[in-house]
Amino acid sequence: MVPVLMAGGSGTRLWPLSREQHPKQFLSLLGQQSLFQQTVLRTTTIDEATAPVVIGSGTHRFVIAEQLRQAGIRDAAILLEPEGRNTAPAAAVAAHFVAEEFGPDAIVFLMAADHAIGDQAAFEAAVQSAIDAASQGYIVTFGIRPTRPETGFGYLKVKPNSRLGASRAQEVERFVEKPTIDRARQFIEQGDHYWNGGMFLFRSGRFLAELRRLEPETYIRSLEALQKARREGDTIALDGRAWKECRNESIDYAVMEKTEQLALVPLDAGWDDVGSWNFLERLPASDAEDNRTRGDVVLEDAHNNLVHSSGRLVAMVGVDDHVVVETDDAVLVAHKDRVQDVRKIVQNLKRKK
Ligand code: GDD
Ligand code: MG
Repeated sequence: MVPVLMAGGSGTRLWPLSREQHPKQFLSLLGQQSLFQQTVLRTTTIDEATAPVVIGSGTHRFVIAEQLRQAGIRDAAILLEPEGRNTAPAAAVAAHFVAEEFGPDAIVFLMAADHAIGDQAAFEAAVQSAIDAASQGYIVTFGIRPTRPETGFGYLKVKPNSRLGASRAQEVERFVEKPTIDRARQFIEQGDHYWNGGMFLFRSGRFLAELRRLEPETYIRSLEALQKARREGDTIALDGRAWKECRNESIDYAVMEKTEQLALVPLDAGWDDVGSWNFLERLPASDAEDNRTRGDVVLEDAHNNLVHSSGRLVAMVGVDDHVVVETDDAVLVAHKDRVQDVRKIVQNLKRKK
């Protein structure tokens, strides 16, 4: 099994801490190691795992190399994208790379670099079940029991009575990426949906066959970007011209919603996507009013807020249900229900530039 880490996201929903040059996966948001380092280290104790493959942005080449070195990982292959084109092209080129290096039967463990996992043993057991199902030709994902109608995730419904032999894997009937809030509420009420864990296992050849059928341009162009890449030791800089021709799309919309051979392994391992500022909810409350604070924060008659100060003192009076993030050069104030929309601020700022 070849762990492949997708580390090229821009982490816009964690602005203003997460910035273009230094997005969230490279920040130490939970513990001493960055999310990226935690993800790489999570793979090193899994049986049968080879050295990791990292696919990220060319602009982050130094931070990637430095963080791998700090984590004691010396033998990773690093694929560098000339520009971010979302996760479908990233997964495509990684699958081509694995097929070339290890053959079409080699199993790819495609991982996001922005997750927290609390229970390593439960995680490894689920990965072993997923490897079994992937060996049988399935594209496998992990199902998380949902706790809220989150619109930032994919939702999975399993086929009744579709367990694969004695394994914990089940076939998936339907995958819906990022539903509307109404639909997400319905899924939660029905009680028969899982969240998509955002990590996938498959034989490289199996995935490439699906990609060729569903996304032929990306299939061809990502291969071309790899063939024409500039190689320096373990670093492979993908060809910019071919890369531009890959459709900018997530793997979820491009492949997972459409493929018919999707299976799910339930994952109960303290999984969390550190996707938006709501991740601070996982910290213990700082007071009896359900506030969660980091850094220098003073509150008066304030309830249920998430507050992060990087340096300056933040004071709040009579404010409930808000997220406040202070950094050197920017301050975010958002309602808790709207944290997904922080990315719109970043989009606006980009347009103004
Ligand atoms: N190399 C590369 N290039 N990596 C990328 C790119 C890119 O252009 N864009 C995003 N990534 C990386 C991110 O750094 C992250 O580690 C991972 O790919 C997933 O991307 P996100 O942008 O964080 O996806 P998401 O959180 O909106 O949705 C996905 O994950 C959810 C669970 O965390 C989907 O798979 C959902 O269905 C899922 O529920
Ligand atoms: Mg994410």
